[in-house]
Amino acid sequence: MNGARIFLGVSGGIAAYKAAALTSTLVQRGAVVDVVMTAEAERFITPLTFSSLTARPVYGSLWDAPERIPHIRLIREAQVALVAPATANLIAKLAAGIADDLLTTALLAARIPCILAAAMNDAMYADPVTQSNIEALRTRGYEFVDPERGFLAERERGVGRLAAEERLVEALERALARKQRWRGKRVAITGGPTREPFDPVRFLSNASTGATAIALAAEAARRGAAVSLLLGPTLLEAPAGVDVVRVTTAQQLYDAALSHAAGADVIIATAAVADWRPAHVSASKLHKTGEGIDVQLAPNPDVLAALGERKGSSFLVGFAAETDDHEVRAREKLRRKHLDAIAVNDVRNERGFGTGENSLVLLWGDDGRRELGTARKDELAARLLDAIEELTACS
Ligand SMILES: Cc1cc2nc3c(=O)[nH]c(=O)nc-3n(C[C@H](O)[C@H](O)[C@H](O)COP(=O)(O)O)c2cc1C
Repeated sequence: MNGARIFLGVSGGIAAYKAAALTSTLVQRGAVVDVVMTAEAERFITPLTFSSLTARPVYGSLWDAPERIPHIRLIREAQVALVAPATANLIAKLAAGIADDLLTTALLAARIPCILAAAMNDAMYADPVTQSNIEALRTRGYEFVDPERGFLAERERGVGRLAAEERLVEALERALARKQRWRGKRVAITGGPTREPFDPVRFLSNASTGATAIALAAEAARRGAAVSLLLGPTLLEAPAGVDVVRVTTAQQLYDAALSHAAGADVIIATAAVADWRPAHVSASKLHKTGEGIDVQLAPNPDVLAALGERKGSSFLVGFAAETDDHEVRAREKLRRKHLDAIAVNDVRNERGFGTGENSLVLLWGDDGRRELGTARKDELAARLLDAIEELTACS
């Protein structure tokens, strides 16, 4: 950690005192730590403790810092941010985009990996609103160090205790290591469904939500890559620190892919692109007549094949959502579209689409095969990027 710049947020939980021991450990390992406390955290432990340990100013308020915009400078100078402990309140504020103090404002402006170590009463942690806030933040690229089961301040046992210091240090080390590995790389990722209109208010589409692409984009950005995310219509939010190009139709995705993905070091095509579009689009809304209508479909351009033909030295990874003969069909697609690797998922019974978890198998070359397993999409994204790292190093 020698010279690593760490932004340490401390919010108002009973475990705030443990952040002092953590600060001491980080400083002893050579890190430069800037501590930002919420007003409530200052009720539990004084800024003086942290400023003595770090030999640096401790920041609390947006308004009384010696400089004009401390929240931006602090988060820009850091390589990684950790909030320990992260209260239920802080997590809820971040999930809602509330920025009403220095800590939340800085985190909202962050383009660096942000790790939250939740710590609270077990019922507060288990509450569905806390869990859905955590889920929303994970989707936006935040990493969590889950609390542990143990003795809580309320003299009860339960899940809510701040993770042990070693786990917090490990999470910081992992984030710092990851951040270096893709620095200088350009990554383009396509994701989400496309919509193919047949009148001004109706379209053909599919069940893709873009969650896989968003998880991959967040992970690639955490590793330091410059990421372009070409995203079809989805209600999910794009991760911070990623360049997002919104598209609607397959033709728009095709055009965006050729202009934004060209020359990228790694291209990952997860978008569920419609193979066909209505051949005729009515200029005005079609009205119900009680009769059926015929919709003639015309083929869409093949985005993945076009990327394969032009890929140059890019490493091109496709995705195959299959309902039967998964690997046979995927290997055939790998060859036909000149891909370097293909990630196969089984979408029988809509598994894979929109759900938090997925199962992936990665295939490459004539017989390369690796099970990436069944896991949350953010974990699978990390495993897929690890595999790409290995494959690009040996190719
Ligand atoms: C004695 C005491 C202990 C608390 N411990 C926690 C805690 O461990 N986790 C938590 O989420 N909230 C805890 N709270 C509630 C927070 O302090 C409260 O939600 C506060 O508004 C958090 O502000 P902040 O998130 O801006 O720091 C505690 C409150 C008190 C009075």
